[in-house]
Amino acid sequence: MMKQGSGYSDVLVGLQYGDEGKAKIVDLVAPNYDIVARFNGGANAGHTIETSEGKYTLQQVPSAVSNPNARLYIGSGCIINPEKLVREIEKLESAGMSVRDRLVISPFASVIQPHHIILDRVSGGAIGTTNNGIGPAYADRARRLLGARLLNVRVADLASDFDGALTSVCENLTYTIETLTPQDFDSLADSLKIERKDLNMERMQSDLLKDFLSASRQIVAYVTRDPRYLCKAVENGSRVLFEGAQSVMLDVARGTTPFVTSSATVAGAAYSGGDLPPRFHRKTIGVAKLLMSRVGRGPFASEFGGAQSEEYCLTDNGSRFTKHYEQQTYDPLSLLQSPSQFERGIALRMLAGEYGSNTSRPRRIGALDLVQLTEASRDNGVDELYLTKADTLRNFSQTPEGRIPVVSGYKRQGSDEEVVAPAATADLKRLEVRTDMWPGFAEDIGNIREFDQLPENLRSLLEHIEQETGATIVGVGTGPQRTAMAMRSRG
Ligand code: IMP
Repeated sequence: MMKQGSGYSDVLVGLQYGDEGKAKIVDLVAPNYDIVARFNGGANAGHTIETSEGKYTLQQVPSAVSNPNARLYIGSGCIINPEKLVREIEKLESAGMSVRDRLVISPFASVIQPHHIILDRVSGGAIGTTNNGIGPAYADRARRLLGARLLNVRVADLASDFDGALTSVCENLTYTIETLTPQDFDSLADSLKIERKDLNMERMQSDLLKDFLSASRQIVAYVTRDPRYLCKAVENGSRVLFEGAQSVMLDVARGTTPFVTSSATVAGAAYSGGDLPPRFHRKTIGVAKLLMSRVGRGPFASEFGGAQSEEYCLTDNGSRFTKHYEQQTYDPLSLLQSPSQFERGIALRMLAGEYGSNTSRPRRIGALDLVQLTEASRDNGVDELYLTKADTLRNFSQTPEGRIPVVSGYKRQGSDEEVVAPAATADLKRLEVRTDMWPGFAEDIGNIREFDQLPENLRSLLEHIEQETGATIVGVGTGPQRTAMAMRSRG
């Protein structure tokens, strides 16, 4: 129950595989909050916001660019890359956005250490990780100690005994390098896109430590000494928005393991990772994309072109068929006519600009999976729904059928029996989908700002989504800019 006279907190999560446009929604609603807080993940997130002054990609700093008064909190569920955080702060500051005097880091947040990055580069390829050391860092957090070596170094340790914490970081790095196998060195060189002979571990070790040392000294200034910082703020009336990173289908426990991130991404995790008792919870906001995407490996039932698309997008861990390559090679409008779903997927990716915001990796593209969206909305208790990229659905009007595919049921391979989404990843890979075709629309909706003005065919699809998910649609994205939203009028 919410405490009388106190503030409250809302939780915003992505309901698919990440990249649903959460940052744009956070930015839109941020003026209604005093604090925007992260509760999971680290520099693996790439939250892009387009404003009239330019495009910003945030990795670790919460996305409240539009509310210069909002305080920014990084909770204990996060893993911080000091060097990237310092660079991000500098970039925002030089773009005129002050972060320094309003960013607060939970003392319980852990740090990404240099050996985590090396280990992720050595073994993250099979999952298609972002190479940010996320998996190894969360693993070390859970392992705590190995022999006498402290594996989990928190920002509180840096703040209280910097030299002691640094000794652990150095020991962990030395141990890791000493225990790498020849195969590991090959993988490392591969991941760095250099020849094995050019891999100079001594130099790498000293560069990584030098960067870590100088950045860590700087981030200590943001670490609060008060473990009840957020709780006190809410008790005193602050309104908090928790901003999820990576989305619920990538949750370490509930997602499509092992093709997941290593943090808890579901709505409930906001309270453990955000350092606030759940009694302050007010509502849950979900964000989903109408044309779906996924980066990295793993099951994706509605993917156009299925396994062929997954292999293509993950070639050289995504670095082969980049945005630039596809722009030089294909004409998307003619590919939309192709009978091949794989080729149509390429066209839809190009037209929707679905490439990694930090990496330019091609995102795998699929039809809206309404079975998955319904389950995610219900499992996470979503009250309000924002649906993004409605403008991209217009491209289906250029296909020979002119209609919008929506996955509306799962079947076991070779059978007509409908099934619920299985938990085992192997079973997920064997699913077949039932796809309904919805009437398309050819109108440009980029300037529409009211839900009721959207084309009728689009509105009937949206109303169907609302019925299935049981959540109220509040806004619909009609273009990339922050203002491009068709809002539902209340009452
Ligand atoms: P990691 O989080 O870097 O360990 O990567 C694990 C999986 O999560 C990979 O498939 C990544 O592509 C995916 N992933 C991590 N962060 C994001 C994100 O912000 N958006 C979409 N996918 C992500």
